[in-house]
Amino acid sequence: MKVLGQIALITGGASGLGAGAARILTKAGVTCALLDRNLSLAEELVKELGGGMAIECDVSDGPGVEAAIAEVTKTLGAPRIVLNAAGIDIAVRTASPKGPHSLEEFQRVINVNLTGTFNVARVAAYGMIGLDVLSDNGNEDGERGVVINIASVVAQDGPVGQAAYAASKAGVQGMTLPMARDLAPYGIRVMTIAPGMFETPLAAGIPQKWIDSIIPTVPFPKRWGNPLEFGALVQHICENSMLNGEMIRIDGAIRMGL
Ligand SMILES: NC(=O)c1ccc[n+]([C@@H]2O[C@H](COP(=O)([O-])OP(=O)(O)OC[C@H]3O[C@@H](n4cnc5c(N)ncnc54)[C@H](O)[C@@H]3O)[C@@H](O)[C@H]2O)c1
Repeated sequence: MKVLGQIALITGGASGLGAGAARILTKAGVTCALLDRNLSLAEELVKELGGGMAIECDVSDGPGVEAAIAEVTKTLGAPRIVLNAAGIDIAVRTASPKGPHSLEEFQRVINVNLTGTFNVARVAAYGMIGLDVLSDNGNEDGERGVVINIASVVAQDGPVGQAAYAASKAGVQGMTLPMARDLAPYGIRVMTIAPGMFETPLAAGIPQKWIDSIIPTVPFPKRWGNPLEFGALVQHICENSMLNGEMIRIDGAIRMGL
């Protein structure tokens, strides 16, 4: 898919990886709609980008997402690029002498990261089904659009304290192929990206002691990833129609230990 002139719907687009992707895509000629529960931050970024729109929305809210996507479609046009970047993390052991993991906290993480991702994908994909197929750039595949989700290397590596987060992200990985197969008849691709350590406000919540021990274990390059490097992969996935139904790690070859 040629991205120039397309509309992108980016959840969690106000911050971190979503914001990095919004900056890269805007530079490539995409108009970005940022859906985030933090409206003021999303509005600030829209100002910086010089276009697009910001909408306050909780990705786990069914009717809220339907209304937000309808508003984007009415204002900017129907999005053919969807990036599910809204997400939260917590670090709690399954049980400790202090007590068991809070069930509500476990469900909250699943609700935002997994249910929220599916919620946005299902509504946005339904909108794409009604669009004409793309005929840009010699694209004769009958393509209509692409949904890109974010999992995490934590889904596979499973560090301590990450049961809820890893479960939510493994769920995102697990639904990538069936969603791609579901949507293939309509020319909609589904891909998932599993980032390693990227410098964002979410990562700023990780205890310094843990960060000091983990960055040196990244084989190469031994540093944080930059959200713009993540954004470049998002753009590539949009442009490369053979990428479908798979999860790509972008992680400097890190494999997290305990
Ligand atoms: N930063 C990393 O190293 C890293 C690594 C692997 C995976 N990830 C994943 O990437 C995604 C983005 O993370 P980030 O590091 O950019 O975090 P971030 O905190 O910088 O950005 C997340 C954004 O999502 C928004 N958000 C949170 N819950 C929401 C909800 N219910 N509805 C709508 N918006 C909501 C927040 O307001 C925020 O703007 C997350 O899914 C995260 O799990 C991040």
